[in-house]
Amino acid sequence: MCKPTVQYLPIMPADPSLSAVRVITIDGPTASGKGTVARIVAEKLGFHYLDSGALYRLVALSVLRGNIPPDDEAAIAGIAATLPCRFEGDRIFLAGEDVTDVIRAEATGIMASRVGALPAVRQALISLQTGFRRPPGLVADGRDMGTVIFPDARLKVFLTASVEARAERRYKQLMGKGFSGNIVSLRQDLSERDERDARRDVAPLVPAADARTLDTTHMGIHEAVSQVLEWFRAIRQPGNC
Ligand code: DC
Repeated sequence: MCKPTVQYLPIMPADPSLSAVRVITIDGPTASGKGTVARIVAEKLGFHYLDSGALYRLVALSVLRGNIPPDDEAAIAGIAATLPCRFEGDRIFLAGEDVTDVIRAEATGIMASRVGALPAVRQALISLQTGFRRPPGLVADGRDMGTVIFPDARLKVFLTASVEARAERRYKQLMGKGFSGNIVSLRQDLSERDERDARRDVAPLVPAADARTLDTTHMGIHEAVSQVLEWFRAIRQPGNC
């Protein structure tokens, strides 16, 4: 077994003036609703939005299409370092092709979790992610936004929900996009993915020490959004920054 050869360094914004740009991080397991919550929070605040999972999914799609062995760390890191992606509104392009829906397939998500366990791939995606930090602010969702990529974020949220609730949500999401799915195998896939994301050596899925946890098992999206906005506004109170 190869051990990681790449040192995973703490991230500092490339341009020090950007460290003043406020960031909200929303991390959590797959299908916890963090993408939807993060997108709405960003819209309401007029902030930029980073869906970091989409970057791992784009790498995964390239790996699947190129028949690249999923343990060929150097080749996959090369893909990540030169990812020809573009984000336009809510559409995501890879080499000019609109892959917004294609990357949501379950097989791509599972491969994303595998490539996300490779340290050189994580390293290669860092500058792409930190580049999203632009005025007036950023909402970033993923697994390591608060722990690794934006450790100085103004507000860190860890969004969770029971595996049953998440399987149900993922099932509806897949059906809505015209994919097929089976709730029992989805539940199994989610549990395995949680396990792999939480146990990897580098940037595992764990709440940041200063993150606030929000369990959305019995909560609608709008309630979750309101809670995040309330936390953010409380931090912004004068004398409470
Ligand atoms: O959030 P998502 O389901 O689109 O993410 C797909 C996979 O990508 C997830 O299982 C693990 C990986 N990922 C990661 O390792 N780090 C991130 N910041 C985001 C996603």
